[in-house]
Parts: sequence; structure tokens; C-alpha cells
Amino acid sequence: MTATSQEIRQAALILESGGLVAFPTETVYGLGADAENSQALAKIFALKDRPTDHPLIVHLPPEAELAQWAVNIPEAAHKLVTAFWPGPLTLILKKAAHVSNAVTGGQDSVGLRCPSHPVAMALLRTFKKGKGGVAAPSANRFGHVSPTTAQHVRDEFKDGEKLDARLGMILDGGQSEVGIESTILDLSRWEKKGAVLLRPGHISVERIAEVIGVMPCAPDIAAPRASGTLESHYAPRTPVVLVSSSELATNMKQWVAAGKRIALIHYTAVGDTGAIVHRALPAVADGYAHHLYASLRALDGVGADLIAVELPPQNAAWHGVNDRLRRAAHGVQST
Ligand code: TXA
Ligand code: MG
Repeated sequence: MTATSQEIRQAALILESGGLVAFPTETVYGLGADAENSQALAKIFALKDRPTDHPLIVHLPPEAELAQWAVNIPEAAHKLVTAFWPGPLTLILKKAAHVSNAVTGGQDSVGLRCPSHPVAMALLRTFKKGKGGVAAPSANRFGHVSPTTAQHVRDEFKDGEKLDARLGMILDGGQSEVGIESTILDLSRWEKKGAVLLRPGHISVERIAEVIGVMPCAPDIAAPRASGTLESHYAPRTPVVLVSSSELATNMKQWVAAGKRIALIHYTAVGDTGAIVHRALPAVADGYAHHLYASLRALDGVGADLIAVELPPQNAAWHGVNDRLRRAAHGVQST
């Protein structure tokens, strides 16, 4: 199942010749192109239907130097790289002059991340002999649920029975371990603002604060744009509704009585709810995150009127999960 070294070499060649490759990371699957080839980058936006002013994260091998891609790098960035790379943390830094507008969405900052998935690391070490960067958003159509398996990527980019020809290859690396996208931390305005959390993820603000000595703050109006911070994102096609544990039984009864077909995601014991299908997820945040997107995708395909999700605990450990659920449910009326 996992990509062979021959497939990884082939994928690196496709990237070097300006093509697109989907590859596994420990968070979600990415849709990669050469970060220094504007024509290749344009293909990402076209395939995803993504607005071109949304910046892309540049993925680097573990041996890469931040100074190759960024300038004005604060000491805090080096400390975070030592503590968390390779791993699910993206750093936003002031961009080096050569980094193209296609990557940055016209902003003066660049997002950098070194993934820890062995297939991703092998690909990045092979591509341009480890001297390049692979720009990659999550490998899904804009606004949809991120893929955590190679099959999810195939489902996103089907062209009839075949794969969309614009996607050169999908490297398989099994199911992504973390399951939700990387934590994004803006350090591009360090002197004025310190560290700013743009997207919560597996690496928590508490762990970041232990390394840099200050707690990251919430984004302000001048913070760099991140599409993962749009109100509606990460959404299945079936409407998603969040329901507190205490109201779950009553709401389910009302929906079922009104003839609604409900698919249910829960993490406490709920008994017989009348849901047409349900998924019990782990009651710990990391385990829950690992299964979340696969569950949303599976329940999106059962013909339900609503996907009801039992609201997880509202504490720090669940920050990343709650963030994704809130965006998946955005704009949906609860009845
Ligand atoms: O875990 C991840 O981060 C995955 C894997 C594939 O690495 N990637 C991912 O990419 O989630 P994407 O494009 O779906 O989300 C990346 C987020 C976007 O919200 C984008 O706006 C933000 O990163 N971003 C990238 N560069 C940025 C920059 N210079 N300033 C602010 N935000 C940036
Ligand atoms: Mg995405």
C-alpha cells in the first residue's frame, strides 16, 4: 500500500517537470507542485477551484534552511523548528525576495512546514535533490473536507471513472496519523505582535509557549489571511449540526419524529437514537481528530438529511477539533 521508492522517484520527476502530485503527510494529504514554478502552481489553483489570493504552504525536507525561503527570522522560529520539525507545525515568516506571489497570495509572508510522514520526507529529499520546496494545499476541492487517505484524494478528483488527468500521480501512505491540518503560527510580525495562532492543530499553544516563552495570541485584523480561517470550510455536502450532549436525545427524537434521516457522530454512549447510521469516535481529542474527516466523508455518502455531531468538550485539548467542527457546521440552521 505504501508508496515504493521507485514511485517516489517517479513523483519527484513529475514535480520537477511541472506536474502535480498528491502525497501523504501526517496531518492530511497534500496536492503538491514545485514552489518555484509559477505554471505548476497555477495548476493547483485550477484543479482545486481555489481563489488565487489564498497562499500555499511550502513543504521542505528536514535538512532545509529557513533562510532559503524567509528573511527577518526571529530566534523563536529556530526554537520551534528544533522542537517540532519534522511535524505538524506551519510557520509564517517574512518571505525571501525570490518567493513568488503565486505561493504567497500576494502577501509578503510565506508559510513553511516540514512534514514527518516518511513518504513526504522521502519525496522532499528526492525532489531537486532536497534543494527545492513543494507548495501544497490539502488535496481536496476548495472548502471541502480534507483527505486523510489516498482513496479520499481519488474521490475528490474523479473524472468519470478515471482520475483527472491534471493530477499526475497519487502517492499512497496509508491513513494520516494526526487527521486534521497543521497548527499555523504567524511569526512574520514578531517584534510588534509576538506569535499569532492562525489555525489551531495537534501542536497546542501551550506546547508552543513552553518553547518560546510567550503564549501565542489570537489573530487581529492585520493578520495574514488563511483560508483555513474562513467561517465556512472543511465542510461535507450534507449539512452538519453540532448538538450538546445534554440536548442530543431530545433533538434526535424531534428530528426523527419530523421524518428526518440523521447520521450521527458521537463520543459518549448514546443508546438508541433513531439515527440511520452512527459513528462512535474516541473520547480523547487526538483519537477523535484521527477519525474525524474519514467519518464526515463516510456519513456524507449515506443520503442523510443532516449529520448531527455531539459537541466535544470545550477545553484546550479539543481546540483543533472544535475549530474544524465549527467551520464544517457554519451557516447550517439547527432544525
Ligand atoms: O497540514 C497542513 O497544513 C496541510 C498539509 C498538506 O501540509 N496543508 C494545508 O494546506 O492544510 P491548505 O492550503 O489547505 O491550508 C493552509 C493554510 C491556508 O489557510 C493558507 O491560507 C495558510 O495556510 N497560509 C499559507 N501561507 C500563508 C501565509 N503566507 N500567510 C498566512 N496564511 C498562510
Ligand atoms: Mg485546505
